Amino acid sequence: MFRTCDITGFKVDLQSEKLIRANAVFAVISLLFAVVAAILLVFTRYQPVHLLAAEWYYRLVTFHGLNALIFWIIFFEIAGLYFGSTVILNTKFCAPKWGWVAFALMVAGLVISNIIILMGKADVMLTSYTPLKAHPLYYLGIILFAVGALLAVILFFGNLMIARRSSPRAARRRSVRLTTDANGRRASSPRRPKRR
Ligand code: HEM
Repeated sequence: MFRTCDITGFKVDLQSEKLIRANAVFAVISLLFAVVAAILLVFTRYQPVHLLAAEWYYRLVTFHGLNALIFWIIFFEIAGLYFGSTVILNTKFCAPKWGWVAFALMVAGLVISNIIILMGKADVMLTSYTPLKAHPLYYLGIILFAVGALLAVILFFGNLMIARRSSPRAARRRSVRLTTDANGRRASSPRRPKRR
């Protein structure tokens, strides 16, 4: 099902629109998390205030790093990939159900990792270098998010394939093939006709 955008005149697949919105909303939520943590970090760095104790400072550095550099950016990127591959190319979303599976995996990853960090079981900073060690659920959260993002990128390529197949050029190529089949010979033969 499509709707036509009042402003741009683009044909917008409704399923795709919902997926773009959901990913964009979670991008903004992650950014908000990152900004709140950043403000607390700045007020700790500012010596006259020195808001947080060392333990919470590193906890929030991890929280800020993950939300600012991973969650916000990748959710926004997926929304952009879906927008570019469906709305801009005037085509439908290849597999909306899988789009929701990817989204659910990414949200589950975000929620699990953030909760574990705030519970104080993953004070490992963004890089998670050894010997720093987090609770296994923290790594599970990161893996779920990564698998969801990978699935979303595969769907982006699926959308590109649909757009390519339904492009006017591909339709023309198909119609030429159909005409030649109906007539029983090639209309656009690469070989020259034989002279008699
Ligand atoms: C989207 C933009 C931003 C990104 C991608 C980003 C990313 C990061 C990353 C990756 C770290 C290191 C985290 C770690 O080592 O675990 C960090 C640390 C930090 N960020 Fe941001 N950040 C952003 C915006 C901001 C803003 C706007 C502020 C200030 C208002 C800020 C304040 C801080 C502070 C205070 C630290 C801790 C530095 C330290 O103690 O070494 N960040 N940020």
